[in-house]
Amino acid sequence: MGIQEIQNNPAYHISYNPAFLIVRQEDDYMFYNSINHKAFRLNAIEFELLNLLYTYEDQDYVFSLFEGDIKTEVVRIAEVIEDLEILNLEYQYDSGCDNVVDVNPPSTFYIHLTNNCNLSCSYCYNQEWRKNGRKALSYNDWGVIVSKIIPLAKTIVLTGGEFLLVSFAPKLLKIIKERNPQVIIEGLSNGCLDYSIDYIQESLNYIDKITLSCDSLNESDERIGFNKSQFLANVSLLTSRFPEMKIAIATTITTKNYMSIDEIKILCETYGLEWKKTAVCPSSPKDTTLMVELDKQVDNAKNMRLHLSKTKAWLSKQMRCGAAKTVCSIDAMGNVYPCQTLHYEEFFMGNLLVSEIKELKYIADSSNVIPSVDDLMPCKICKVKYICGGGCFANRFAYNKTGRYSGLFCPIRYENSLSMLLSLDNRG
Ligand SMILES: C[S@@+](CC[C@H](N)C(=O)[O-])C[C@H]1O[C@@H](n2cnc3c(N)ncnc32)[C@H](O)[C@@H]1O
Ligand code: SF4
Ligand code: SF4
Repeated sequence: MGIQEIQNNPAYHISYNPAFLIVRQEDDYMFYNSINHKAFRLNAIEFELLNLLYTYEDQDYVFSLFEGDIKTEVVRIAEVIEDLEILNLEYQYDSGCDNVVDVNPPSTFYIHLTNNCNLSCSYCYNQEWRKNGRKALSYNDWGVIVSKIIPLAKTIVLTGGEFLLVSFAPKLLKIIKERNPQVIIEGLSNGCLDYSIDYIQESLNYIDKITLSCDSLNESDERIGFNKSQFLANVSLLTSRFPEMKIAIATTITTKNYMSIDEIKILCETYGLEWKKTAVCPSSPKDTTLMVELDKQVDNAKNMRLHLSKTKAWLSKQMRCGAAKTVCSIDAMGNVYPCQTLHYEEFFMGNLLVSEIKELKYIADSSNVIPSVDDLMPCKICKVKYICGGGCFANRFAYNKTGRYSGLFCPIRYENSLSMLLSLDNRG
């Protein structure tokens, strides 16, 4: 191919290569090699030089276009570009990436100690199980299960239903802490039981972190049975009586509370609490009406970008969520699933009353895993797939089940991924 021909053909410009994502940001260019998950912030001159090197594939020819001090600088930049392999399009194994199938079992275990609950939130992912009315496990049964997970667990998350309703919770928490004091015990609670009751206080003594769910301080919203005064009294009690305990508020974002969550933000600021926000995950077709309109979420993601601080560290390739890899979830009958929102029979891993952890599906057979962004459409062909990681697999699965397009969350995830990319400042 002659130089003239290359010069006259715009298809040789670096921006035509679908493997690269190039975003102009004021005077800089953010350049992302989506095959090898390498991102660099370049100034205009560096970017133009990158383009020349890419277009002509001939360093000597490119160097011959320059003279004197400029040539010396061009050679220096070219060396950096080569060292960093920005243009390398061969798929490289990323040792830090999370697609490496774990031979180690998960270290975070969600325990749904009961299906019973004092509230009945309209969107609750476990309301169907509650209706089944199956016999609950006894303290002894949980003792069997807990003894299997204690040696592996770094974090045990007590959830339900409302785990603080379970009378033997303090006894169970005590044995966990006695057998492995290093295990972090986290509780997920609706914060509407009276925390000053003795046996609840006893449970709280063993808890390192508690997350209280609160979508709105308005009692007539989706958390049916929410008791505002009890909730606020509990926040106050926890902060005063358990100064060592980490306390967070979790808000599930729906169409109903989307515009009114500022009051929860203020509550968190007042008490210095962490605030975690999650979009509602549809457990049934009716829940789709609770989902905040896509346009609003995309706008929100774009606005967030303006407030992101710069980061020097670049995350390793994200391939999929941590389901069955870093996390697994045990239901109130001892059945194990890859995560707390993937309690579907398709993902049943086994029952811990009768099986050992190493015998559970996904753990026993390391080739049998939740699909990654390299397996799923539309992720497979998405430029930001290794930044995004494909998002919540349960969300995707719920949508498929309800007949909706699995890529529905993509515009939001794409914007968030772009924000992460643009927040990178790894010059020097
Ligand atoms: C199932 S609850 C159990 C613990 C406790 N009863 C509570 O409400 O915190 C655990 C968390 O899951 C959240 N959750 C329940 N259903 C959900 C759904 N469909 N989508 C997203 N989050 C959900 C709740 O808001 C809560 O923060
Ligand atoms: S309080 Fe928790 S377990 Fe109970 S219905 Fe609400 S989300 Fe579900
Ligand atoms: S933006 Fe969408 S298509 Fe791309 S990786 Fe994320 S979930 Fe997959």
